[in-house]
Amino acid sequence: MLKSNHIDPELIGANLKTKRIGRKIVVFSCTTSTNDIAAEYAKSKDNDGLVIFADEQTAGRGRAGAKWFSGPAESILCSAVLINCKLTSELLSISCAVAVAEAIGKLDSNYAKIKWPNDIVINGKKIAGILLESRDYDTHRCHIIGIGINCHQKQQSFPPELQTIATSIDTEGNVFCDRVSLAKRLLSSLDCWLAAAEKKSSTVVQRWKRLSSELNRPIRLTFGGAVFNGSCIGIDPEKGLIVQLDTGGIRMFEAAQTTIAK
Ligand code: BTN
Repeated sequence: MLKSNHIDPELIGANLKTKRIGRKIVVFSCTTSTNDIAAEYAKSKDNDGLVIFADEQTAGRGRAGAKWFSGPAESILCSAVLINCKLTSELLSISCAVAVAEAIGKLDSNYAKIKWPNDIVINGKKIAGILLESRDYDTHRCHIIGIGINCHQKQQSFPPELQTIATSIDTEGNVFCDRVSLAKRLLSSLDCWLAAAEKKSSTVVQRWKRLSSELNRPIRLTFGGAVFNGSCIGIDPEKGLIVQLDTGGIRMFEAAQTTIAK
């Protein structure tokens, strides 16, 4: 059987009924980082909604200066451009996480969940990550939503330190992932959840609560060099994760400046 494993702009764009995300689609076989290419395109305000895909990256990056590895054609690697986005950075981060988790959906009998702020996990292992970056140009501000979804990796494909904590669609779903279908679902989901967030933030917050792997569970965070232990009790679209601290009191943590401690 012929298996569709080629990212093609026309295949992704065919019957794509999005209003904003994926208005223009550009595909590279190999590039440095799709976030860097997207930032170049974002210099023009006309490129709101443009999405860059690549089969391979030579300088893929993750949060907190980490590298993002993926062999050729093993993943969805893409970056979407938003020009003058009206959402707060917390709400943008929440909406993107919801969109990616929903696009992956259910694999075998497990649902993709959000590990705050930007990891998507399934069965306790990371299957996707999101890197949000912003730049200011003379005439406008842009946000770049960089998304990596592991599709065809086997456990041995990951670097040794990731083999027990990372997974892929093929592994979890016992299927050969159709990357074109997944790319279409991803763009539709992003389009839908970003529009929902602009209309009514509570819709996204409610969905985040259903998809969170941490809600009502103990959590350990580092913020400004200090470690905080507590229980995650919710999310605020402006101030971030809401934590009931073990030491007493409630505190909110912004996504960009906080990491989950090991
Ligand atoms: C993370 O989990 O740390 C975020 C990973 C984000 C990886 C994607 S792959 C496409 C885009 N280009 C990059 O260089 N990074 C993001």
